Amino acid sequence: MHKFFAKTLFLGKKVCYLPECHSTNEEAHHIISLEKPIEGLVVVTDRQTKGKGQRGNIWESEPGKNLTFSTVLKPSFIKIPDQFGLHLLSSLAIHDALFSILGNKLSIKWPNDIYYEDNKLGGILIENSIRGNGIEYSIIGIGININQLVFETPHATSLADIGLQDYNIMEVAENILANLEKRYLLLKKSHFTLLLNEYHARMYKYGQNQLFSENGVVFTGTIRGVEKTGKIIIESDGNMLKFDFKEIEFLRD
Ligand code: BTN
Repeated sequence: MHKFFAKTLFLGKKVCYLPECHSTNEEAHHIISLEKPIEGLVVVTDRQTKGKGQRGNIWESEPGKNLTFSTVLKPSFIKIPDQFGLHLLSSLAIHDALFSILGNKLSIKWPNDIYYEDNKLGGILIENSIRGNGIEYSIIGIGININQLVFETPHATSLADIGLQDYNIMEVAENILANLEKRYLLLKKSHFTLLLNEYHARMYKYGQNQLFSENGVVFTGTIRGVEKTGKIIIESDGNMLKFDFKEIEFLRD
């Protein structure tokens, strides 16, 4: 994992490989605190001892079995209200990379979980450093379950669990990096709306009835899309409701 052979211009050209670390996102923060942020730097490990998930959760990953890495971007062209663009491009890039293996049972669960049918295959943790009214740098942490077969986390799956064979972690990583750069350059050319439309087309439960919980109050609604700001739009009882990530939970029937 010391070198990536992805067909990219800048992403993954500089790699920090650590056999073990607490969290590749934390390592990326640490490297940036010592040097200046290097666009395209990838920090990758075989074993995370304190992998970070969203909402303060732990990210479970069996050593040597999965893909766990972080990459540093300097998206100075993204205005703070458009930060969701980073979620769009990273989830679409992973979807692009895995679609050829898994096909159309793959989806993106808002805001940026990678799902296969009703199980979680991967997750993204984006940490932005804001300076003035722009993003100084962004750390995009990506965890994809590749060859792990047994999970403590409920409703988790992996490529091997689905495909009944082992997969080459490095190849998946290179494919994701190539798509990540492609999508990033698209966003740079102001193709936010195009990315948002593609996101809608790949969104988990889009247009379907779904159970949600808002502060413990359960309701049914239909997902109608996502706003530019990243808020999800849910139609319920004839009203269009909008929620931030932390305000709502998907429930299983
Ligand atoms: C989620 O909860 O869905 C986000 C999971 C993100 C996990 C990845 S693994 C590599 C990077 N380093 C971390 O500590 N977390 C992210």
